[in-house]
Amino acid sequence: MEIFKINGHKKLSGDVTLHGAKNSALPILCASILIKGESIIHNCPDLSDVKATLKILEDLGCTVTRQGGTVAINASNITTSKIDEGVMRTMRSSILFLGSLVSRTGCASIYLPGGCDIGTRPVDMHIKALKSLGATITENGSGITCCAERLTGAKIILPFASVGATENIIIASAISKGRTTIINPAREPEICDLAEFLNKCGARIYGAGETTIEIEGVENLSPCEHRIIPDRILASTYMSACAATGSNIVIKDVRPTHLSPVFPVFNEMGCRLYLNSNELKVEAPKRLKRVKIIKTMPYPAFPTDSQSPVTAALSVARGTSVIKENIFENRFRFVSQLNRFGADIDVNDQMAVINGVTKLHGADVFATDLRGGAALVIAGLIAEGESTIHSIEHIDRGYERLESNLKQLGADIKRIKDEKITEEKKAEQQQTVCERRAEPL
Ligand code: UD1
Repeated sequence: MEIFKINGHKKLSGDVTLHGAKNSALPILCASILIKGESIIHNCPDLSDVKATLKILEDLGCTVTRQGGTVAINASNITTSKIDEGVMRTMRSSILFLGSLVSRTGCASIYLPGGCDIGTRPVDMHIKALKSLGATITENGSGITCCAERLTGAKIILPFASVGATENIIIASAISKGRTTIINPAREPEICDLAEFLNKCGARIYGAGETTIEIEGVENLSPCEHRIIPDRILASTYMSACAATGSNIVIKDVRPTHLSPVFPVFNEMGCRLYLNSNELKVEAPKRLKRVKIIKTMPYPAFPTDSQSPVTAALSVARGTSVIKENIFENRFRFVSQLNRFGADIDVNDQMAVINGVTKLHGADVFATDLRGGAALVIAGLIAEGESTIHSIEHIDRGYERLESNLKQLGADIKRIKDEKITEEKKAEQQQTVCERRAEPL
């Protein structure tokens, strides 16, 4: 077990470079099995979710090599269409393999992450869409088998702009027969990145990032080289850390348009933002101003993934801020842990009322999920005294060596092995895991 120890209440300064986006890397890696030959993916973040995806690719028969940020996947020989239950259970975005495997091999057999780890997270839109493309789907308790000789294009109307369902449809349709139309697809930058990767390989995907996507199925795809877009959620996490600690930092390799939904919130908090091509300078005031209301919505609105880090920053703003979470019902679970730092946040009906306090104190807390974990790290950076963050494996799913990058900015944070975890702590940790319900992929 590893933990973070943070000595907070220090200003951040200097610069930090974004790594590639987790939410682009995962679907692009899943899509790579459509391609016979070697796909080269640059700027691929070294995250536990990415490692699990690469392990699945190897298990399926791909040859995978990594050199620094570049990953090469040779998917010439796919030897099985079944994914091992153990790896699948560590990988919440496993559902994305459904479309790619059925398209490449004619059959996909996957397990869904189960138990209290997953709860009620639905995949109904994925299943319905694949059925519309002609797949036969059988569900047996913990697993799904999806078969089709060759998928056939169809018109698919998504009742909600689901990121994962849009990606599954794009991947599944790329080498299908005929034309697929997605009405109301997700428009996130990661969808555009996936489409760009597949189009470089010879796919014909039009309209990614818009309100309708058209996919003309092609017979086959050829390998390409692709660079993953920088992680906009990581950018908003650094911006929150900077804002929360009244600091000035420079974030490198940003795509300003990807961050346009979060800029107004930081401006409202009183931060000054300066853009110089792909560098973003953030200058925070001594004390943040409150934000009237933030509503999380699909892109191009405020991202649910940025909600937790921003909540942590607003915990020490002057006045009361309100955040309405509209995407995932359990995205405020970290708040009870945040309140252990002395924050004053009430959550009711997916609405958080954040009464800004003047300071936080050190606390001993558990990361409940990936972005909530990042929020607790930010609270530790704000707090006077020492903080301990347990269950940091959640954070490692989406942040590459977060502590090293924060250290580079001047934070006093270290990752240490927690040899002496007590039975009481173990029980508390188990409790936070079992409380977890629908969580993003
Ligand atoms: C992706 C991101 C995650 C982000 C989320 C929303 C990845 C790997 N993960 O997750 O970081 O927080 O988008 O931006 O890219 N839903 C259904 N039925 C379905 C599918 C989804 O009801 O078949 C619901 C979900 O429970 C949730 C909402 O739709 O309430 C949004 O989910 P979705 O956009 O699919 O998010 P993910 O792809 O899981």
